[in-house]
Amino acid sequence: MKPKLLVARPIFQSVIDSLSEKFEVTSNQSDQAWTPDAWQQAIASHDAALTTGSDPINALVLGAQPRLKIAANMAVGFNNFDVPAMTTLGVIASNTPDVLTETTADFGFALIMATARRMTESEHYLRAGLWKQWRYDMFAGAEVHGSTLGILGMGRIGQAIARRGALGFGMKVFYHNRSPLDAATENECKATYVDKETLLKTADHLVLVLPYSAASHHSIGSKEIAQMKPTATLVNIARGGIVDDAALALALKNKQIAAAGLDVFEGEPAVHPDLLTLPNVVLTPHIASSTVKTRLAMAQLAADNLVSFFATGHALTPLNQVPAKSAT
Ligand code: DGY
Repeated sequence: MKPKLLVARPIFQSVIDSLSEKFEVTSNQSDQAWTPDAWQQAIASHDAALTTGSDPINALVLGAQPRLKIAANMAVGFNNFDVPAMTTLGVIASNTPDVLTETTADFGFALIMATARRMTESEHYLRAGLWKQWRYDMFAGAEVHGSTLGILGMGRIGQAIARRGALGFGMKVFYHNRSPLDAATENECKATYVDKETLLKTADHLVLVLPYSAASHHSIGSKEIAQMKPTATLVNIARGGIVDDAALALALKNKQIAAAGLDVFEGEPAVHPDLLTLPNVVLTPHIASSTVKTRLAMAQLAADNLVSFFATGHALTPLNQVPAKSAT
């Protein structure tokens, strides 16, 4: 008998087709919203789940003696998983590192550029028919090349953004992280470790790439924004909740910093209403890893984790180790 697999959200049909060779697949291709009860029941009746960052797996969802053996997240971030609870309950967790690093860094850089150079604000102006003539100061933004790039969170994606800034745009790159990188990696990224206060005070463009956890909740709030330059821009491609969105909206309104570019939001897909009305913020719907090639690679790696686990007892990119529990 094939193990029962729940695919929580729409993914590429080609990936579902190949998974169907090994699993009895239930797939939510219509993207019907899960109620908490329906989600809990669906998890209770499957051996495996292919999830996205919006699908919670925790002690409540799993229950005391879960049938589920593995949840493969189609995301590198995994704050939708309670990994310690999954470990206690014998459920493997996996994510999709590496395959999205460069694509997400490209998008981070695009958001830095769009924010600093006021691209959406000026496009709205043009589309509204307001453009009458060339003006010397029209949508004059902040310089990107040669400026100071600050990176909070220096994992793989942070490093890829650092390389783009230093090597492509001649930027001075400062970063802050739980611990400094080794000297060889720092040298390769042309990045210098500084404390958080120095990072906030010196960055012309500050980009957030740290994982979400209770410890990183509201890493950027009114106190931190107050330390930034009034000309600075802030970009969040990490996770909602790392920035206090209400505090940011107020700071943008009061021109405490120049502008922000946000791909992730507290409580997304809801967006703080004030952010929607402000001209000096570029807003995108959590699409930093979204190219066709990368999203396919993410879906394929999540699928490969499932196939590998049921074939060998080991996922390819696990987030935890659990005592052997029969895969079949
Ligand atoms: C990730 O992989 O964590 C991205 O944010 C997509 O959800």
